[in-house]
Amino acid sequence: MGTNFSDVVRDDPTNNVPDTIFSKLGLQLHRRNNHPLGILKNGIYEYFDTNFPNMFHKFDDLCPVVSVKQNFDDVLVPADHVSRSYNDTYYVDSQTVLRCHTSAHQAELLRRGHTHFLVTGDVYRRDSIDSTHYPVFHQMEGVRVFTPDNWEASGLDPTSYAAEDLKKSLEGLARHLFGAVEMRWIDAYFPFTNPSYELEIYFQGKWMEVLGCGVMEQEILKSNGRSNSVAWALGLGLERLAMVLFDIPDIRLFWSTDERFTSQFSEGQMGVKFKPFSKYPPCYKDMSFWINDSFTENNLCEVIRGIAGDLVEEVSLIDNFTNKKGMTSHCYRIAYRSMERSLTDEEINDLQWQVREQVQNKLNVVLR
Ligand code: DAH
Repeated sequence: MGTNFSDVVRDDPTNNVPDTIFSKLGLQLHRRNNHPLGILKNGIYEYFDTNFPNMFHKFDDLCPVVSVKQNFDDVLVPADHVSRSYNDTYYVDSQTVLRCHTSAHQAELLRRGHTHFLVTGDVYRRDSIDSTHYPVFHQMEGVRVFTPDNWEASGLDPTSYAAEDLKKSLEGLARHLFGAVEMRWIDAYFPFTNPSYELEIYFQGKWMEVLGCGVMEQEILKSNGRSNSVAWALGLGLERLAMVLFDIPDIRLFWSTDERFTSQFSEGQMGVKFKPFSKYPPCYKDMSFWINDSFTENNLCEVIRGIAGDLVEEVSLIDNFTNKKGMTSHCYRIAYRSMERSLTDEEINDLQWQVREQVQNKLNVVLR
């Protein structure tokens, strides 16, 4: 990609990108044809190529460092929306972020004249730690613009026309990926679309959200040189889908370089079911402390991830109370487990000792 990320981590109060995140920039798992994320991307491409030959322009190499304007303003995210906070998003400086969704590229691509496009990329969010959440994951964005000649013959109003085309196209995609499954449309809210929907499919006994989508807000089209048009837009999370499609039980595995994982995808084909090579025992450590007003679980998780990296599997709040003086205590349980080997007691005790030390110093909480 040729992008130089050296300026992404800085000792600056408006920068909250830790080394653990920095080290993921440029890895581009979605561009590896023998990686589950690359395989899924190619599987989705195949659906669009078959059903809409030569129609969608594909981008999978756009730089994840974007402006606050691209990530939020251009897609009408309100000024007070939580996703803009330092607690939820990685800021490089006050005007620059690691994109938290691939929607960050909608406006610029429209302005560059694109009307049919798919954007795949790594996205970044501060979050809690469990088997389905990781601060870096991958999304695919799709946009299709229509002009009056498209909807005029249909007898539908432009919005209904776009919404029908969207639903038809995405039901086709879900069938392409999951086979003959039951599906349902749920009304949703996104700042950039109206109406907005989520598609759910009934898979392995549960309704599962597959993607968010909708009819693009007129304002986005107008501001980017497409008055007199309507468009649909969609965004899907690749890890969520890949975990279900390939039976991958923990999101950390996507980052594994263990050959027992990587070799299972060497054919580059959909339809593979991952065979766990072994499940090593977890080790649980609890820690309790009095929190302060600025305490957040995302900050706690970042400190723990900074020390234990991918050896931490889950962080969960197991007790929470406020005493008569109004002081609030939290007890967190940390599950340590490697996907690749057994951890020694000594190693875990050492990690936990460092966690206690840094939680106390960096978060200014009082250990109990
Ligand atoms: N950007 C949304 C997210 O990250 C996903 C999304 C929803 C994208 C609806 C879209 C859309 O383009 O129309 O959660």
